Amino acid sequence: MNVLLTGGAGYIGTHVAVELLENGHDVVVVDNLRNSHAEAVRRVERITGRSVHFYVGDCADRELMDRVFTEHRIDAAVHCAGLKAVGESVELPLLYYRNNLDALLTVCEAMDAHGVRSLVFSSSATVYGDPDRVPIPEDAPLRATNPYGATKLFAERILSDLVASAPDWRIITLRYFNPVGAHPSGLIGEDPEGVPNNLFPYIAQVAAGRRERVLVYGDDYATPDGTGVRDYLHVMDLARGHVAALERLGDAYGMRTYNLGSGHGVSVLEAIAAFERACGKTIPYEVVARRPGDIAVCYADPSAANRDLGWKTAYTLDEACAHLWRWQTMNPNGFAG
Ligand code: NAD
Ligand code: WQD
Repeated sequence: MNVLLTGGAGYIGTHVAVELLENGHDVVVVDNLRNSHAEAVRRVERITGRSVHFYVGDCADRELMDRVFTEHRIDAAVHCAGLKAVGESVELPLLYYRNNLDALLTVCEAMDAHGVRSLVFSSSATVYGDPDRVPIPEDAPLRATNPYGATKLFAERILSDLVASAPDWRIITLRYFNPVGAHPSGLIGEDPEGVPNNLFPYIAQVAAGRRERVLVYGDDYATPDGTGVRDYLHVMDLARGHVAALERLGDAYGMRTYNLGSGHGVSVLEAIAAFERACGKTIPYEVVARRPGDIAVCYADPSAANRDLGWKTAYTLDEACAHLWRWQTMNPNGFAG
């Protein structure tokens, strides 16, 4: 397949690109580099020994998207482009709604105009808000608790209205839980700008000596050790889920939604311990107040993806930590060098 991959210079997009290329697909990336570096795409080429068609630009630029569809015979799109920082979305809601929804609408309009009706969309477990129960199945109630999450909920609604209006669309929405780790080569990985918002990049920077200690946001949750519990999955497993989804789109008219998670919950203290095993160092931490908006527990029921996509996680959390540590030590300043 010839796959349009939006956001293909980003954390998840680069790993999806590697999986696609290694499974014999061709990849056309559109990314405006708002939260990424062109070097990341060059690394994808280095890992795979294949070349990527790379357009630096905005997915909401209809002229650009028309050019991409005219210059390449695209079979399907994987739409990963988007802004994803929850805190920033609370401060800049208009930016988040404008960027994430304009990008989705423009990609879908361009696909429609060029007769491409197969799409895999990056959604998030954030659409479940604070879940009533775990593990979370796909039919759990949906509720956004911040503007970022609302962009994912609205996006899913837009896609479901689209397939209702035109039954030849084939859309798979993937709700990611917490992707972590890096490609085993250490050549690509997550490269957060400034202070990392997410737990694992923060732990990695503490291990590398760039930050003093991990701040554990609360140990008074109703969980076994009191710290927040999440479903961490290796980013390469997540990437493989996209290839599985694309390869099953063929017989899937309409819209289907899958959780991509391991199905297991891991606490913050367990996460720190796993990283200590990977890097062979003690990671200093301090328990501080809860982070506003955080929930106690979130992990997936991934049985639908297991059954329909033939997908389940293969890497352990320890392997994800080892690969993240390799990425961190090989690229102490990320892609900027
Ligand atoms: P990322 O920021 O590393 O990658 C997103 C990429 O999209 C970046 O390279 C950015 O430059 C690009 N981009 C943003 N807006 C764009 C636009 N309008 N036009 C073109 N390019 C644009 O983030 P990621 O972690 O790789 O996330 C990829 C997708 O997965 C996002 O949609 C995100 O919301 C979703 N997601 C991420 C996580 C996670 O924990 N990382 C969890 C659930 C869902
Ligand atoms: C994990 C756990 C924190 C940092 C966020 C978004 C979500 C999704 C993934 C895109 C929690 C604790 C964290 C730190 C800590 N993104 N923590 N110290 O909150 O599950 O999800 O990223 O869709 O939408 O909300 O992930 O990695 O930020 O936090 O103690 O420095 O680690 O309280 O329990 P989260 P996270």
